[in-house]
Amino acid sequence: MEEIISLCKRRGFVYQGSEIYGGMAGLYDFGPYGVELLNNIKKAWWRANVQLKENFVGIDAAMFKAPETWVASGHVSGFSDPLSECKNCHARIRVDKELEKLGVKADEKMSEKEIGEVFDTYKNQIKCPVCGKIMWTEPKKFNLLVKSNLGDFTDKNETPVYLPGEACQGIYLNYKNIIDTTRLKIPFGVAQIGKAFRNEISPRNFLFRCREFEQADTQYFVKPHENAEAFEKIKQERWDWYLKYGLREENLRFKQHENLVFYANDAWDIEYNFPSYGFDEVEGIHDRTDYDLTQHMKFSGVDLNYTDSTTGEKYIPWILETSAGLGRMFLAFLSEAYTVEKLENGDSRTLLKLHEDLAPIKYAIFPLLKNKPELVAKAREVYAKLSEKYMCEFDDNGNIGKRYRRQDEIGTPYCVVVDFTTLEDGTVTVRDRDTTKQKRIKVEKLE
Ligand code: GAP
Repeated sequence: MEEIISLCKRRGFVYQGSEIYGGMAGLYDFGPYGVELLNNIKKAWWRANVQLKENFVGIDAAMFKAPETWVASGHVSGFSDPLSECKNCHARIRVDKELEKLGVKADEKMSEKEIGEVFDTYKNQIKCPVCGKIMWTEPKKFNLLVKSNLGDFTDKNETPVYLPGEACQGIYLNYKNIIDTTRLKIPFGVAQIGKAFRNEISPRNFLFRCREFEQADTQYFVKPHENAEAFEKIKQERWDWYLKYGLREENLRFKQHENLVFYANDAWDIEYNFPSYGFDEVEGIHDRTDYDLTQHMKFSGVDLNYTDSTTGEKYIPWILETSAGLGRMFLAFLSEAYTVEKLENGDSRTLLKLHEDLAPIKYAIFPLLKNKPELVAKAREVYAKLSEKYMCEFDDNGNIGKRYRRQDEIGTPYCVVVDFTTLEDGTVTVRDRDTTKQKRIKVEKLE
């Protein structure tokens, strides 16, 4: 993972947020190649979940929502992690995660007092990760919602507007709008990619646990109790999607939640075997029953019942959710693609074997020599033509071998070289990233 993180920085995939000011914990910026990869993951996800599904639509809701949203959803009262502070150096730990490392469960349902009692038993085995002392305060439940003063021009900020703790609430708030303005009938789905903010106590593991991140969500609205078959189908579809875009089956696994939140009927994670971190969650697949819409109906006073136009039946639909972190998907695809090959001459070659659809740059176009204007002009012409359709890069810097290596490291599937033969017969060499094999083909056939 250290090597992948270093490549991310060196090749402009991911930077530490606010780096010139010393950086901020849990915040990352995507650089020039990072934003391309990120956007390509989003496109692939949107294609599978909206474009190819007749009964799915997408939305993009405002991040800020009426403060009642987060009361209704249960986040204001229940979205918290137990925190303890080192009395010596003030470093903070997530008590449940530290206990988990010792094989002890401290689940969300436990009260502050109950967690305190368990922590008391084991705290002598937990050293401060910063100063190494064992001087812990009593655990306190710390709410993860991030507050803002949007629309509040007083100094008191008594009615804070929250940043989204999860993106999916935007779909629930628009469920009625969507029914009223489209011809969708149950069962139907709504997809959204949106930002989420969580005051994580200990952001860690690069993009894995951040304070600002994006979620790609689908919410599938079904008739009550008609959830089981659809749930299995959704789980399979999401699994297949990861395989399609290059994750190997041996690096994926399903994990069923043992401790369900009180409203959930069933919940599974798709986990990826991250280098250094091991298997951990990339996506959650949740059967949320009618909890969300029932709560919003109660708090807003708006009737969110669905009326079946054929039978006249009225009911609150159940919701099957898929929710994947974009940063975690990004890290999983990068981890899978990261390859170091030993070469016969003793050197090594680093490459990203990314799926073509995900690769930031699809074609790199090189004139064989920088100082031959006719080659440069022809290469620019090829570049201009291909960039109409694909993200391409023009590079005339350094010897061809170095240029290939640069593209290998960012995962470009094809490098195109314009040489003297190109001027004679209109063919270029195309070099394949994974095999390094080269082939001469006509420029018109590149696409
Ligand atoms: N709406 C459901 C929901 O938010 P979640 O399991 O809390 O469920 C869904 O989050 C996904 O969001 C996770 O599977 C993970 O990929 C991503 N995620 C959650 N917390 C994150 C964090 N602090 N940093 C990065 N990604 C996170």
